[in-house]
Amino acid sequence: MLNDKKVLFSGMQATGNLTIGNYFGALSNWIKIADEYETFYGVMDLHSLTVRQEPAQFRKRARSLMALYIAAGLDPVKNCIYFQSHVSGHAELAWILNCFTYIGELNRMTQFKDKSAKHADNVNAGLFTYPVLMAADILLYQADVVPVGKDQMQHLEITRDIAIRFNNIYGDVFTVPEAYLGKSGAKIMSLADPTKKMSKSDENLNASIYLLDKRDDVIRKFKRAVTDSDNEIRYDESKPGISNLMDIYSCATGKSHDEISAEFAGKGYGEFKIAVGESVADILDKLQVEYDKILADKSYLDGIIKENAQKASYFSEKTLRKVKKKVGLTERIK
Ligand code: TYM
Repeated sequence: MLNDKKVLFSGMQATGNLTIGNYFGALSNWIKIADEYETFYGVMDLHSLTVRQEPAQFRKRARSLMALYIAAGLDPVKNCIYFQSHVSGHAELAWILNCFTYIGELNRMTQFKDKSAKHADNVNAGLFTYPVLMAADILLYQADVVPVGKDQMQHLEITRDIAIRFNNIYGDVFTVPEAYLGKSGAKIMSLADPTKKMSKSDENLNASIYLLDKRDDVIRKFKRAVTDSDNEIRYDESKPGISNLMDIYSCATGKSHDEISAEFAGKGYGEFKIAVGESVADILDKLQVEYDKILADKSYLDGIIKENAQKASYFSEKTLRKVKKKVGLTERIK
């Protein structure tokens, strides 16, 4: 706990273009609960290195991600928004925690299995120890709560296991964090295949709605979304396409599934899909106006990058000093 507030940590990889899955599953929740916590939001650029990046494009993406955090509504003065690679404590703590994590545990990570199948020519050690760096991110700030989408739950579990293991040996060093999942939107599915998660890296561009998609594209993609053929707007496991669209509409409008079914009773899928598209496009229009403004103001963004890196370093150093002492590393003489 910092001051009298609990600590929140979360972040996104600076890989690919953000989708409404990232937005409704994570970013919009960050904004909803930010005021209750002392917050740290990382642009997780070290994690992105587990997949080959083109350097110039990568640098641009990372900056763009930071601008999106702010455009979505995170005030960078109240919230510490920073680049992971600017705080060396992440990598240092990750090394120490590597020595407290078992290969058997990492072998069970489904994301590792998925990613190594996808990038079979580059199954690097970073991909394998990815969850340990993520544990370091969270534990470095003594985070109480970590708002994420459902796909990150396994990584949260291993973070908790590592923290508990470490605390059992050395006393209460780490806060054991809890995941925070939103009421709806914790798993937004692909528009092309609603049994698959919507993903930044889907090769089919019609499968995902990107935060920087133009209005016409957003509506066109929703019109083409794969659904069943019974034409009834009802939330049901056997109707993954329509249920996914109902989830998205619920996230965009705040309406419950029952309210949505009532609103569209007797109406067809065509009308519903356009309404979903419009509701999402309205949100993205506003976000894009802000995003363009922020990205155009170089010195504003540079100032935030500089100040927040200092702030994050300051907090992270406290934990790192404690951890080093506990494991018996010799203190540096200044
Ligand atoms: P990343 O960059 O893949 O995704 C960022 C956030 O978006 C959520 N998300 C989704 N939520 C709902 N539906 C979807 N289709 C969907 N796709 C993505 C993710 O759950 C995540 O919350 N390993 C993390 C980044 C990370 C991190 C951390 C997160 C690194 N260190 C520490 C929290 C705390 C990742 O790859 O997220």
